[in-house]
Amino acid sequence: NLPREVIIKEVGPRDGLQNEKEWIPTDQKIAWINMLSNTGVREIEYSSFVNPKMIPALKDAREVGRKIKRNPNVVYSALVPNMKGLEFALEAGIDGASVFMSASEMHNQKNINKSIAETYPVLEEVIKEAKAVGKRVTGYVSTVFDCPYQGKITPEQVLEVCQRLVDAGADDLSLGDTIGTAVPTDVEKLLEVLLKHFPKEKLILHFHDTRGMAIANIMTSLHYGVTRFDGSVGGLGGCPYAKGATGNVDTNDVLYLLHGVGIQTGISERKMQQAGLYIQNLLGKLLPSRSLAYISNA
Ligand code: HMG
Ligand code: MG
Repeated sequence: NLPREVIIKEVGPRDGLQNEKEWIPTDQKIAWINMLSNTGVREIEYSSFVNPKMIPALKDAREVGRKIKRNPNVVYSALVPNMKGLEFALEAGIDGASVFMSASEMHNQKNINKSIAETYPVLEEVIKEAKAVGKRVTGYVSTVFDCPYQGKITPEQVLEVCQRLVDAGADDLSLGDTIGTAVPTDVEKLLEVLLKHFPKEKLILHFHDTRGMAIANIMTSLHYGVTRFDGSVGGLGGCPYAKGATGNVDTNDVLYLLHGVGIQTGISERKMQQAGLYIQNLLGKLLPSRSLAYISNA
């Protein structure tokens, strides 16, 4: 009873680069995003329109958005924390706005400088405006299992934030295992609750792979009928405001799993590997990627 098809969003240019100390020149970011655009992937999160002092690696979001070569088959989205971010993102060009907050009070405070209660009205306004100009909105909820500052988070805490974002008009929800500590039974417990309130098509699972559990967690989610996952090529990534968080699940590992069990993605594994080697080369260090090590040694 596995789904026949899965949609992957490549978040490497956003989640991947936001945590890198090495500055990737704008033209090279653009060349990389253009490569990703030709892999067959259906959605790319290309940057963040946030305070550049907090995420210097993505301070060129506006130029990147203006200059990438858009493939009409790809949805281009970006992180938008407030109205200022939305204004810049609309100027630079987005198909989708990704708003974000945390199910954990302490992570929310560290990441976006506000309490959960203070965040709702800000995001509600962003969602309303983005929808008014015809953009798709994804609501990211971070720390859905575990918070680096606060410990375990319950499914009910996650549900409350999800409900507020959907009530405000978010089209879908991306559930973040921000520090990559969940195991499949945690995923089961969360999905058992959320699927009573939202259709499975609305849910995107965003796994970081800190403890190597992401592929097991994706397999579990597939059994619940979830068909949308985020990945970051080469396993790049992490949240600078979540201590201990490492990269997202490597998109190439996700493709190996999905294609291997007979699920289509429309993505070329070879082209995705090439895109991984390209960014690995630019960063000048080996990425934490089994797939890139495998093809390099083959
Ligand atoms: P603040 O400090 O509360 O806001 O930031 P502020 O309104 O007081 O502004 C402070 C400064 O930021 C001002 O500049 C503003 O102009 C500027 P200054 O006067 O100091 O020169 N500013 C902006 N500049 C450009 N674009 C903007 C913008 N907004 C304010 N949009 C804010 C609040 C939310 C903006 C800030 O805390 C922030 O940018 N946080 C972003 C942190 C971040 O990007 N974290 C990583 C992404 S989340 C993540 O990785 C998790 C995820 O992957 C899911 C998962 O894994 O769980 C999504
Ligand atoms: Mg993340």
